[in-house]
This record gives sequence, C-alpha cells and structure tokens, in this order.
Amino acid sequence: MNVKFRATAPGRVNLIGDHVDYMGGPVLPMAVQLSTTITGTRFGSEVSLTSDQESEPLQLQLPSAEPKDVSPVWGRYIAGIAQEMGATIGFSGTVSSTVPPGSGLSSSSALSVAAALAFGSAGSIAELAVLSRAGEVRATGVPCGIMDQLASAGGVAGHALLIDCASLAIDPVAVPPEARIWVVPSGQQRRLGDSEYSQRRAACEAASELIGPLPDASLEAIEELSDPILRRRARHVRTESERVRRAAEALRSGELAEFGQLMIQSHRSLADDFEVSTSVLDTLVNDLTSQPGVLGARLTGAGFGGCVVALAQPGVELRGWLVTPSAGADIELLA
Ligand code: GLA
Repeated sequence: MNVKFRATAPGRVNLIGDHVDYMGGPVLPMAVQLSTTITGTRFGSEVSLTSDQESEPLQLQLPSAEPKDVSPVWGRYIAGIAQEMGATIGFSGTVSSTVPPGSGLSSSSALSVAAALAFGSAGSIAELAVLSRAGEVRATGVPCGIMDQLASAGGVAGHALLIDCASLAIDPVAVPPEARIWVVPSGQQRRLGDSEYSQRRAACEAASELIGPLPDASLEAIEELSDPILRRRARHVRTESERVRRAAEALRSGELAEFGQLMIQSHRSLADDFEVSTSVLDTLVNDLTSQPGVLGARLTGAGFGGCVVALAQPGVELRGWLVTPSAGADIELLA
C-alpha cells in the first residue's frame, strides 16, 4: 500500500557549548520553530522530490549511488540517509522549509532528520540522530558531531537541551519566558566542508591521545602539553564544557545575566583558543553586547562565519530571527 506521510524536523541553535560534541562534552542547544517538512507518498524504487528553496528537483534511483556524486547538491543529504539505511523503497513529494540555508541554524540536519523519518526510520531519538548524522557524513565528508541531529530529533517545546554527547542523554532545561533568544546572521556564508572543521577535530583527538578525555582533563595537564596549538584547542574543550554546565544551572535558576556572561566567555574561547571566529563575527558580538538589554552573544555552531546567538531582555529588537524553543522531529501518517 502507498503510505502518505508528512515528516517535519526543526533547525536548531546552540546556546552554548561549541566544538565539544565530537569530544564527548556537554552542549546546550535547542530546537527552533523554523523547520523542514517532507510531504510525500512512499512507493517504488525512486525518490522524486521538489523543494521550495531550490530550483532543481531531485530524482534518485534506489539503492542510492555515492551521495557525494548526487546532483543537485541538496539531494546528497537525502542520498546519504538512503545509503545509510540501505533504503530500497522511495517516495515522491515536496520539501518545504523555513530554515534559511547556510544560516547556521542547521538546515542540513533538519533535512537529514526529516529524510530519515520519510524513509521510515522508527527508532529512538538517539537512534534517529545517530542515523541522520551518519547520513550527513556520507553526504558531506565532514566528520561532524551529534549535536545538531540530536537537537532536531529530541527538541522539547519551551526547553533547551543539556546533552551529554558521550552518552547521548538529553536533560531538558526550561527556558525562562523572559529570555529572548535571537539568531543574528553575520552575512558571512559558511560551508562546513570548506572549513577547517576536520583539522580542529583532529587536533582535539591528538590532544586527547596524550592526556585523555578533554571535557574533564585537568587544567594542569593541558598547560603541560608542549604543542601550543594542541594546548589551546584542549583548553577550549575543557573550559567550554565547564561553561555549559554552569550555563545550564544558571538557566535553571533564571540567572540570565550570568548566562549572558558565560556566552561572552564562550565566544572569547572560540575566538582565541579554538580560532574559529572571524573579524566579522567578533565585531558583531561586540556590537550586540554593547547594546542595552543584550545580556550576551556568541558565535554559534561551527564558526568561520554563519550566525551569532544573542540573549536579550524583552523589548530589545535585533536584526535577525527571534527563535523559540520548540518540539523535535515528528512524522504523521496521512489518510
Ligand atoms: C557543527 C557540527 C556540530 C558541532 C558544531 C560545533 O554544527 O555539525 O556537530 O560540532 O559544528 O559545535
């Protein structure tokens, strides 16, 4: 029987905790109200999709060819999931999305998670995220962490998600209603595949070989690392992990000023120790945090361009998207 479905997966913003997920550290993202929906009918051995954000449609024969060779480029995410799942039954339909591509709100994870549901993945939230991440790695070749897919799969309305990336456990933390979270685009387009993301990850792994898991490494051991680059990368992972834990506590107890200060410290660490900021992002963070009512701001996601996330008091208007903590991915079977 042909199954009709509507699979929806949200984008995400990371409030604090960047470049720690792939080292098993804690992160604090939230799913946002901007999302990607695939509406379609399952049948046959082909995926046939149009997209409201892309001019070229996708025709993909199953079992899927090498995802990196698929054209148009957006179809690689669908092919990555198809290959990861060994899918042989396809679907025909449309993709519609309110997640701006290249914004830093993880449009790629929203598409991958929605595609996994569209192909019929029915596992737990963690399984859905692991599958979606593996599909994205096939599509892009970038060894990303699990944060984006887990935030999209496991979002909880009204809550940020304290995620332990070692165990994949999610602890929802209520976001106080007076917290206004803005995502402000820097205007600098980022493409993870072109970035030094893989190099940063490799440096962290090299440091971890020497001193053990970085999120809990002792600061003394880090300072004794002889390579100054490994030392700085490790210091970021260690101090960022601690900031995330403190930020989750601050959010729980409604101490938003404290949360904002931790965001500012996080940005400094990403800029100085991890070297993933740009002068455009630094200027934007400075401009935002000097505005009255803005409690904190930092680059969010991988860096190298993309967006800044800012925490503001009610009444402040920033040039970007006001995002609200939203529910995670879901599939609806239609009659
Ligand atoms: C990208 C990756 C994530 C994470 C962030 C940095 O968004 O997809 O897994 O590593 O960068 O925190």
